[in-house]
Amino acid sequence: MSEKVTALRDELVSKLNAATDAAAVDALRVEYLGKNGSITGLLKGMKDLSIEEKKDFGQKVNVLKEEAGKLIADKFEEIKNAEIIAEINSMPEFDISTPANLNRGSYHPITLVQRQCEKVFKSMGFHVEDYSEVVTDYECFEALNIPKHHPARDMQDTYYLENGQLLKSHTSAAQNAIYKKYKDALINEGKPIKAIFPGRCFRNEATDACHENTFFQMEGVMVDKNISISNLIFFMKTMLSEVFQKDIKVRLRPGFFPFVEPGFELDISCLICGGDGCPSCKHSGWLELCPCGMIHPEVLKAGGIDPEEYTGFAFGLGLTRLAMMKYGVKDIRDLNSGSLKALAQFTDDE
Ligand code: PHE
Repeated sequence: MSEKVTALRDELVSKLNAATDAAAVDALRVEYLGKNGSITGLLKGMKDLSIEEKKDFGQKVNVLKEEAGKLIADKFEEIKNAEIIAEINSMPEFDISTPANLNRGSYHPITLVQRQCEKVFKSMGFHVEDYSEVVTDYECFEALNIPKHHPARDMQDTYYLENGQLLKSHTSAAQNAIYKKYKDALINEGKPIKAIFPGRCFRNEATDACHENTFFQMEGVMVDKNISISNLIFFMKTMLSEVFQKDIKVRLRPGFFPFVEPGFELDISCLICGGDGCPSCKHSGWLELCPCGMIHPEVLKAGGIDPEEYTGFAFGLGLTRLAMMKYGVKDIRDLNSGSLKALAQFTDDE
């Protein structure tokens, strides 16, 4: 009886070797392992055997069954791989001289100005930091000298989560974390804190040509011994003339923000109308671009820095507004429109 098992196995192996496609292998599976298949049939011929022989033979048939299943599966795999390789070989070769698809994507104008600003500040030794869009009340307000019920909160109404966290209304929300991150290097090694942190901000805002509920800012801070307003003005002027590649008219006005003292509004002359007045500049000829000031002692303290020893400046550049100025975008809403027709015209001019 066991010769039968060996013979059947050899027969299957030679037929499998001869099979060249998946259909032939499947036919062999049915022929040997199917309900009426030859291996299954072996068990049917067992009725005349003694109990001992049945046990021995049954075991051999089961081993064969298992082996046959594996041989067939392997052959399937082999044929499938051969088919894939044949398909790959039949494909036309990659042609390096094919013209590029000129209809490719483009960077968003805000990404472009963000990169330009980062490049300028990096060259002046600033770190670029990333920060979360969801922040705590402490980070966004308390640590910035804006206690609960302070009227300054009215201008920064934003979107609150059920757990009390909020979508940051300004990039200043990262200030506290940045001071804590770099204060040891400042205090122990005398390394000034120089960081910029671009980010998306949110406000509960009625939208019009120059207001959006979602916009981008880029915060910058520098803290060291003897930092003064002239340092601040120098960095702002350098950055603006690099980004616009020309001399930009600016004006400084006093401005109030609880986390700076003194505080300023840095305006640039509207580049869309040349200063004559248009909807983008609310017909004033000037655009508020960069609120700034000297970091308030309480804010430094909250960041673990002694205001008696160190001073610093902070600014909150309106990246969205900068992009509008640089690329002549008249309506801020176009920037969030997702309209490829409107956005695809901007290219990286570096
Ligand atoms: N965070 C302020 C705002 O969005 C801007 C600001 C930043 C002002 C840094 C002063 C210093 O209105």
